[in-house]
Parts: sequence; structure tokens; C-alpha cells
Amino acid sequence: MLVVHTSLECYPVAKTGGLGDVVGSLPKFLNRKNVNAWVVIPKYDNDWANSRSYDVVHEGATYLGSQKFHYRMLREKVDELGFPLYMVDIPGRTDRPGIYVDPHSGYPYWDEFERYVSFQLAVLDWFKSFPQKPDVIHCHDHHTALIPFLINSCYIYSDLITVPTVLTIHNGEYHGSYDIGKAALLPKIKPEKFGFLEWNNRLNSLASGIRNCWKLTTVSTGYLRELQTDSSGLETLMQHEAPKSVGIINGIDDQVWDPATDPLIAHNFTAKTLEKGKKLNKEVLCKEFGLNPKLPVFSYIGRLAKEKGADLLPDLITAFLESGNEANFIVLGTGDPYLHHLFNHLKGRFVGYFNTSLQYNEKLAHQIYAGSDFLLMPSRVEPCGLNQMYALKYGTIPIVRRTGGLNDTVIDVGEPDGYGVCFNQFSLEDAWHAVSRAHSMFKIKDHMKIFRDRAVALDFSWDKSADKYIELYQSLNN
Ligand code: GLC
Repeated sequence: MLVVHTSLECYPVAKTGGLGDVVGSLPKFLNRKNVNAWVVIPKYDNDWANSRSYDVVHEGATYLGSQKFHYRMLREKVDELGFPLYMVDIPGRTDRPGIYVDPHSGYPYWDEFERYVSFQLAVLDWFKSFPQKPDVIHCHDHHTALIPFLINSCYIYSDLITVPTVLTIHNGEYHGSYDIGKAALLPKIKPEKFGFLEWNNRLNSLASGIRNCWKLTTVSTGYLRELQTDSSGLETLMQHEAPKSVGIINGIDDQVWDPATDPLIAHNFTAKTLEKGKKLNKEVLCKEFGLNPKLPVFSYIGRLAKEKGADLLPDLITAFLESGNEANFIVLGTGDPYLHHLFNHLKGRFVGYFNTSLQYNEKLAHQIYAGSDFLLMPSRVEPCGLNQMYALKYGTIPIVRRTGGLNDTVIDVGEPDGYGVCFNQFSLEDAWHAVSRAHSMFKIKDHMKIFRDRAVALDFSWDKSADKYIELYQSLNN
């Protein structure tokens, strides 16, 4: 069975968040289970992509509106990632360093729609050349969500009409919504199908994907339910498509995320050497950030975005430290410039208690998981969340708001077999209360040991979830 994943991100080639992790790991596990899973992404102008060798497997040309463009399909020569990786090279469109945002200006690329569409059109044009078509095309998020619509609706893709499509929503906040006039850039659409492109008088890529895909998945069951009641205008659509929808929780790549072998942490450890390993890694981390290793370390890793609740952190940290509590806080990530400013300010204000590294840094992230006591995830929305799983694997207790995948994966320490700290409302009070519970917990070493032992014993590997995807693919090919 050939399953082709189309995405804008794939770790380690191009990643801004969890989407990259999932597309960089699920196909590897599918291949281990004898599914021929490929990944196709744009050929970016970045260090990873520029330092590999490729075979040119196909060259073609197709139209964006009335403009003809040429593309090349490159295949990375050695299958270094554990699956065949293809990249679409469209000169003038894909060959840029950023995925969504121009790193020089900090703003999204001016032609984002044209860029995403060219990528999708090139992929479909390439599929047309296959003597045997893929068994499934698996699209991820709105950037590739036009594919199911294009196949169903454009005359030129009628050869592909029997190819099943799956759309996975990793982040339903972004719809890929544009002026409906942009439809002129697509190949000729069958008139009766035009309506499937439109949602509230706009061209809505995600909505079109939801309506046209054969199966719809979200990255947790909790998130699927949430989207059915709250998805910025797509609720009725999500309810209507419920029969073809399923939530499948993500797994983590335990080759990359294993404290026993992780080359990115200072001291490797196993379940047996957990306490010592945590202590040594905490010392390294505290030294790096100028913090006191005797105090609990609360960390935040990720995009500094509203969805993730990062805007709650400055007030939370200030309120907690100002009321006389002794604790360390670390923030690693980039995002909202205003939050950068606030965190830089806090850094000067709480020297020795708060420190931050306002960048994307994979290596440092691993060391923070290894050396922290708690990981803060006050997300407003969390479709799945991988960071809580990485944290647990490294014996770090997650403090999470009960939403989406966080609610599905973290059990509060107050419940039987619990191993995390959960809170309900997105509010300073609730988050403060959670941090304060964790802070008291930290003082009872035996309790911390019990929760850590439980955490590292959990299994969040891809094994079960990859099986669920395989079942889904098979159901489409019967
Ligand atoms: C997005 C979501 C995150 C999820 C990830 C992978 O980044 O925000 O919750 O874990 O996609 O599916």
C-alpha cells in the first residue's frame, strides 16, 4: 500500500512545531509496519535541504491561473529519515528559507496562497504521471487541504478521482481563508463543484478539505469534539462530517526522544537511574540559566503564541514570585514580539529566578525536558500536544490546562495513577493554583518520585496510533 503524505513541515528538514514532528515520524513507523509511506514537502532553501543529495525523479510543468510554471520532483538519495522523502522544487516559489514566514522580515510571505497552491498543483501533476496511483493521499492542515477538492472538482485531475484522501487537522485555528477571487488561480473547476470551495463567501482551504476528503482525522478525540462545538465558524461543517471523522492521538518518536540514548542531553538516564539523571541534568540546566538547582524548575517550551497560552506566563510568573514563593522559571521559544519584550523585562527583574532563551533551539529543548521538574502548558487550544509526552518520557511532570489532547493524555495526581497537574479554566487564578500545587508537591520527595516513576513508565510511542492509521487506510481501499 502506497500512502503519500503531503505537508509543509517535516522534521528535521523543516519544522516550526508539532506538525513537523508528526510528519517526520509517523511515516517512519508506517514503513516499519510495511506500509510504503512517502512524504512530499516543498524544497526549501535551508541548511538541511541544501546539504543533501537528490535524484530528480520527475520534471513537469503546470498552470497557476494562466501562468505556466515548471517544477522538479527531487528524492533524497539515501532515505536518511526512514522513509522516502520527496521535495517539490518550484523556482521562485519554494526556494526560500522560511516555511510560512520570511525570517528576514518576520512577516508571512506575500504570495503564501500562490506558494501553497503551486506546491499542491505540482504534486497532483506528478501523481498524474504515475502508472499506478497512490492508495491514499494523506494531507496535513490547510496548506495541503485543497488537494481533495482539486481531485474531486477539476477536469484535469479526473484520473485521480478514485484515489482516497485523508485530511488531518493539526491546527484548526488556521483555515487558509482567502478572497474567493483567488479561485481563478486553480485549474478549471466543474461548475457544480464550485460551492465546495467556498465557506462564508471566502475561499476556505480547510473547509474545502473537510468537505472533500474521504476521511477526516484530528490529532486527539478530545479535539475532534471541541472542533464540533467551537472552530471559528466551521462547527456546523464539523458536525455534518462527523460520520467520516475520527480522532487519533499522535505518538512520539522514541528514537529521537529517549533519555537513555539522547545525544542532546548532558547525562543520559533510564527508569532505574531516573532520580540521579534528573538531578545531574537539572544542575547543568540551572548552571546554564543561572538558577538555583535546589528550587523547583518550571519550564515552558514552544511557540510564544496565544493558542499555547504563552501570554498568561508573564503575569503568572510575576504573581507567583512576587508572593514570596521560591522557584525557577525558564521560557524557551519564539513568537509574539510583545511577549519577547515582556520576557526580556522579567529576566532583568527576577535575576536568579527567571531566565529565557527567545529562540527555536531543539538541543536546548531536550536539555530543558531532561533537567526541569515541571513543564507548563497553559494552552487555550491544544489539538494534541507533544511536549507533555516528551516531558513525561524525561520524568518531567506536566502542568496542563484540560483541553484537547492535553485532557486526553494527562491524568491529575489527585486521581488514581495520576502523574500530572491539571487545571480547568484559562485564567491566572487556575494556573496559579496549579503551579502552587506543584510547588508544594515538590517539597515531598517521595511523592515526586512516585509521579516521576509513573511518568517514565507510560507508553506514548507511535505503535498503537500507527495501527489506527493503517486501519483507516485499509478501510478506504476495500
Ligand atoms: C499542532 C498542534 C499540536 C499538535 C501538533 C501535531 O502543532 O497545535 O497540539 O500536537 O500540531 O499534531
